Amino acid sequence: MYGLIRFFLFRFAPERAHRIALSLLHFVCTLPLGASLIRSLYKTKSNERRVFGLSFDNPIGIAAGFDKNAEHVDVLTNLGFGFIEVGSVTAESCSGNPQPRLFRLPSDRGIINRMGLNNHGAAAAVARLEKVDRKTPIFVNIAKTPNPELEGALGVEDYCTSARLVREVADVVVVNISCPNSGDGKTFEDPEALDDLLAGVREALTDQGPPMVVKVSPDLSDEHLKQVVKIANKYQVAGFTATNTTVNRDTLTATQARLEEIGRGGLSGRPLHERALETVRRLRAETDLPIIGVGGIMGPAEAQSFINAGATLVQVYTGFIYQGPRLIKEVSSALPNDSNC
Ligand SMILES: Cc1cc2nc3c(=O)[nH]c(=O)nc-3n(C[C@H](O)[C@H](O)[C@H](O)COP(=O)(O)O)c2cc1C
Repeated sequence: MYGLIRFFLFRFAPERAHRIALSLLHFVCTLPLGASLIRSLYKTKSNERRVFGLSFDNPIGIAAGFDKNAEHVDVLTNLGFGFIEVGSVTAESCSGNPQPRLFRLPSDRGIINRMGLNNHGAAAAVARLEKVDRKTPIFVNIAKTPNPELEGALGVEDYCTSARLVREVADVVVVNISCPNSGDGKTFEDPEALDDLLAGVREALTDQGPPMVVKVSPDLSDEHLKQVVKIANKYQVAGFTATNTTVNRDTLTATQARLEEIGRGGLSGRPLHERALETVRRLRAETDLPIIGVGGIMGPAEAQSFINAGATLVQVYTGFIYQGPRLIKEVSSALPNDSNC
């Protein structure tokens, strides 16, 4: 069934297909019994987890970037996700990079994107989340407004503005320090910048606020990753998300001509999986904190490999585009129940 829907959707440019798919889902959910039909079709076997002091019906979440503006929380909940990460949101709204900026690589089961943090701004997402019927944990991912003038202390203050806005509505705040597409091309993974950033966000979230998770890149050296963990520990970070997209394209089968035509951007999906998995393993060697494994989950096998490597929860984005909603059910049913629940 999803094969047919995908055939139809892949006739359109990727961003348009994304909008069409979500409009259709919203439409179905507004029909009498529509939402219950979707829920019963995709109902996942309960596979509970308790992480960050929160209860999760199952350990599979939708990764950041899919619902940047918190417009689809109800629909994503109906599809059976165990948690939903909205964003990245930034303090100022942002139109992102010029289109086209999203590209499919079907033979690689991958996506390249340079969206550039397009979003309506943190305040708009908060206004939507205040009205949402909360049935599942909601993570809010924050990033720096991609304005090259917001460097150093100004950049930190920009993150802190978002943190102060989202702390009342987020169950978990994810600090995105690893976006490869932020216009100015800089990330906060540089140790000195990261120390200032996490100090600022920690204070902005307050001791009573939601837990803070740091999302890392798969492209960090061992030494660099160790430094990130060390700094995170200084500021009571509650966990890590591994990983964001990669700038490495070594494993792709797509032709050089196609890649040149696409241009720069972060790679996700199957070709990312091994790098993301290795990052989870390297992180697990450095920390006992919960890790959310994300990158190239196309079915139960990849999700299980993240869990085996030490991840507590997993997320999908590209796999959801290629496999459709049944992916959630398949992964959830295949993962063993957590004996610690
Ligand atoms: C189109 C697109 C947009 C994304 N936007 C964001 C974002 O705004 N913030 C973020 O932290 N990650 C973003 N990501 C990265 C995903 O959250 C995820 O870390 C990455 O795609 C790896 O997972 P996957 O292989 O299952 O797609 C984006 C990914 C894609 C494909």
